[in-house]
Amino acid sequence: MNETIARELETWPPRIESAVARCGQHIHNYTIISSVSSTQDTARQLNAPPGTAIIAGQQTAGRGRFGRSWSGEPGQGTYVTIILQWNDAPRLAIACAVAVTDTLRSLAQNKTEFGIKWPNDVLARPSTNQPWKKISGVLVEQFNSRAVIGIGINVHQQSWPDELADRAISLHQLGIETERIAVIESLLLSLNTALSLDDKQLVKRFVELDMMTGCHCSFTSGGEKYTGQIIAIDPQRGLSVLLDGEQSPRWFDADRTTLHDLPFSRPS
Ligand code: BTN
Repeated sequence: MNETIARELETWPPRIESAVARCGQHIHNYTIISSVSSTQDTARQLNAPPGTAIIAGQQTAGRGRFGRSWSGEPGQGTYVTIILQWNDAPRLAIACAVAVTDTLRSLAQNKTEFGIKWPNDVLARPSTNQPWKKISGVLVEQFNSRAVIGIGINVHQQSWPDELADRAISLHQLGIETERIAVIESLLLSLNTALSLDDKQLVKRFVELDMMTGCHCSFTSGGEKYTGQIIAIDPQRGLSVLLDGEQSPRWFDADRTTLHDLPFSRPS
């Protein structure tokens, strides 16, 4: 780890301590580690109890959904894992996506549009005539009857490898300059709030932020490729899609399904 990041990390403990103290209900412990392979692995190695946040300065082998890798360039993004009592994974995943969106909106002071690509990618676009790109991803895993929820947010990245250039964006690229610790503080507080929403409130928030209902999309589910129009999204049941050539919609669950397309505009 370089000296700049080491100095940056020295400022984190009191700020995270204070954010966690304000969270109270869902997050009450934290561990800060300068460099890890993946905060998801650290959570397992520490066998951390529910309510613990694992926060890393950098990740050398961050992972995403479906075995994809998650870029962990030193000092560029935020890498947080929260351990929660495992009760309802789809609900937890959606609460996390809502929390990330709230965090980004508040950091952007509502000057940038953010939305959710089901189940839990958070998208942003720099202006109305530009395409949406991914700024954050959430990974939900299970360990010892606990939910291990990993959240990555792109903060300072100035460029991307070719394969991500059309799909990924950072706060810096949106013109939002902020410290990583400010993103983490806000995330912990937003998570605590979103996890406290009841089912009705959570669905209402998700529907406001959902970018995909109404879109015609290609997607993979259980290894099969499909195309069709998304009719509805339900946090429990998943995606209801009217497949091309079919007469009635089918449900596809979040565990096995990944949408390929990014929306160009929010469907009406
Ligand atoms: C995805 O979009 O596929 C999910 C990405 C999740 C990335 C975060 S970063 C913190 C935590 N540690 C990991 O290895 N992955 C998650």
